[in-house]
Amino acid sequence: MSTFSPKIIRYKALDSTNREAFRLDEKGSLSEGTVVLAESQLAGRGQGSTYWESAPGLNLTFSLVLRPVFLPPAQQFLLNQTIALGIRDSLSTFLFPERVSIKWPNDIYCRRGKISGTLIENRIMGHRFDLCVAGIGINVNQEVFTSDAPNPISLRNLTGKQFEPEEVLQRCLDAIGQWYEELRSEVIQKIQKTYLEHLMGLNKCMRFRAAQETFAGVITGVDLYGRLQILCENQQLQTFDIKEVQLLL
Ligand code: BTN
Repeated sequence: MSTFSPKIIRYKALDSTNREAFRLDEKGSLSEGTVVLAESQLAGRGQGSTYWESAPGLNLTFSLVLRPVFLPPAQQFLLNQTIALGIRDSLSTFLFPERVSIKWPNDIYCRRGKISGTLIENRIMGHRFDLCVAGIGINVNQEVFTSDAPNPISLRNLTGKQFEPEEVLQRCLDAIGQWYEELRSEVIQKIQKTYLEHLMGLNKCMRFRAAQETFAGVITGVDLYGRLQILCENQQLQTFDIKEVQLLL
């Protein structure tokens, strides 16, 4: 059972579902749980200035509208964790769950392949949250990827089976809804603990790139602001902001 009563606004084609969510909200406030979904995105946006590749009609590209007015804006990384946990939980129901992990900050991987990416865009008014648009791309049935995105893979690639995107969407919304209720009830420690349990590379020696240098280190945690904590090979504990460091696979 979904904790949202999702209103799904469907499009054949859009530039980007995140853009459309913000446009619709300007015309009249969108209620929490609204989903803007497109079969095809002509300018799907990824993290930073990247492009999100998704073959028309084969995958899921949608934006979920949240209004986390209860959350102090300084704690907005909890939203990334909440959404990542929901997507991970839902996708792991189709796969071997122990293989499905969260790559910091909020990509979902099955082993070394990226199945899902999320672009969260927040609007904060004064000291309060006003709007969160969580743009989610899930690779469902696409078999061939042509962009230079890092290791894209779909549920179909992983299982050899065809999936019903609508069913994947419903499971994903349900699972996000459940974690969102934990966030609303301020069960923050559970969110942080479970996020770390599924975090790729936690307590393992991995390679990273930061400031055009590669180095070895061990992820020891993520702070409340979403910064990655790495014990580097020189034994210094360093904290990296999003975009400052990349985990190399
Ligand atoms: C990433 O780079 O990993 C984030 C990808 C986010 C893609 C989704 S698809 C739906 C929504 N609309 C967009 O334009 N981007 C997000």
